Amino acid sequence: MKLFDVYPLFDINIVKGKGCYTYDDQGNTYLDLYGGHAVISVGHSHPHYIKRISDQVENLGFYSNSVVNRLQEEFAEKLGKASGYENYRLFLVNSGAEANENALKLASFHTGRKKVLSFHKSFHGRTSAAVRVTDNPAIIAPVNQGMDVTFLTIGDNERLEMELKTGDYCAFIIEGILGIGGIIVPDPCFMQNLQNLCKETGTVLILDEIQSGYGRSGRFFAHQYSGIHPDLITVAKGIANGFPMGGLLIAPHFEAKYGMLGTTFGGNHLACAAGLAVLEIMEQEQLVQNAESVGNYLFQELTNMDGIKEVRGLGLMIGLEFDEPVKPIRQKLLFEHHIFTGVSGSNVIRLLPPLCLSMQQATQFIQTLKKVLAEK
Ligand SMILES: Cc1ncc(COP(=O)(O)O)c(C=O)c1O
Repeated sequence: MKLFDVYPLFDINIVKGKGCYTYDDQGNTYLDLYGGHAVISVGHSHPHYIKRISDQVENLGFYSNSVVNRLQEEFAEKLGKASGYENYRLFLVNSGAEANENALKLASFHTGRKKVLSFHKSFHGRTSAAVRVTDNPAIIAPVNQGMDVTFLTIGDNERLEMELKTGDYCAFIIEGILGIGGIIVPDPCFMQNLQNLCKETGTVLILDEIQSGYGRSGRFFAHQYSGIHPDLITVAKGIANGFPMGGLLIAPHFEAKYGMLGTTFGGNHLACAAGLAVLEIMEQEQLVQNAESVGNYLFQELTNMDGIKEVRGLGLMIGLEFDEPVKPIRQKLLFEHHIFTGVSGSNVIRLLPPLCLSMQQATQFIQTLKKVLAEK
């Protein structure tokens, strides 16, 4: 059997990882500024992470959500403390799309409404409701088209107010920082206005922190720069450093009913052990603070570099916009200098390294990029 060919692949076989480095089967070492798409939060193959998972699987890898799971409770408590959302409740799933899918369902159950507001350039996943609120017609199948969604342009406050005041919308979904859309940081005043309007109109505010959350922005959540408290917050990616896991943080005013949400694998014992290891490492190694300081350094140095049109982002979620397609720059970085980067659209390089990136590794990237841009 062959693989269903949906991914354009680099012909590189990564077989090992350590910290911010990955290694291929030819013996090459790569500096990982992509983090496997913002997934590697605490670094590849961290010893504490390996031990936590190995110890857990020796005892119990999985049992269903029909019995008490103390690891889920422990994880929820620790996540509440780390994020500053101790009074919220947690529902665990297996991926980002599922977290958003459940957030949209919960918003609709809660309000009894059907319509949803989202942003142009947004990405929220590929399941039925999540893909429908994603601004990319190419990935929305006819079977997904049923839900009634309105897309707004960031900054169009007049239309925002007009739509919300109809009182027809169950939810507004927005990323903490728009990732695939090109690293766009929403303005704090806009976010505060959005929160007020949602409160006024009984619309559920969903913050998709799947890419921008878990310390990546230099705060636990990117929306915390705006001082807002969304009704629902979705997480995945960095939550378990590569183990499939997602979650939905739920404000106290939502009522839980037996059976309204559910999953077979979500919150399983092994996932919780991986998630706990991540939170423990983040705390011990102060990775949120590291993301802020190394991110600030990178941001400053890149802003001063010739040849880059604009630098955007917060912490270790940085976008470098160029006047032309970035493919040749990324190819040079990867194949000549062994540095992995990400991309948004055609003209933006996206940096999403592990949160343990050191100043020295950041400097290595800055010097290499300078060289690559000088050769253009
Ligand atoms: C902001 C955002 N939301 C949702 C998702 C979907 O997550 P997953 O691929 O785990 O379903 C992604 C994935 O890239 C994302 O970046």
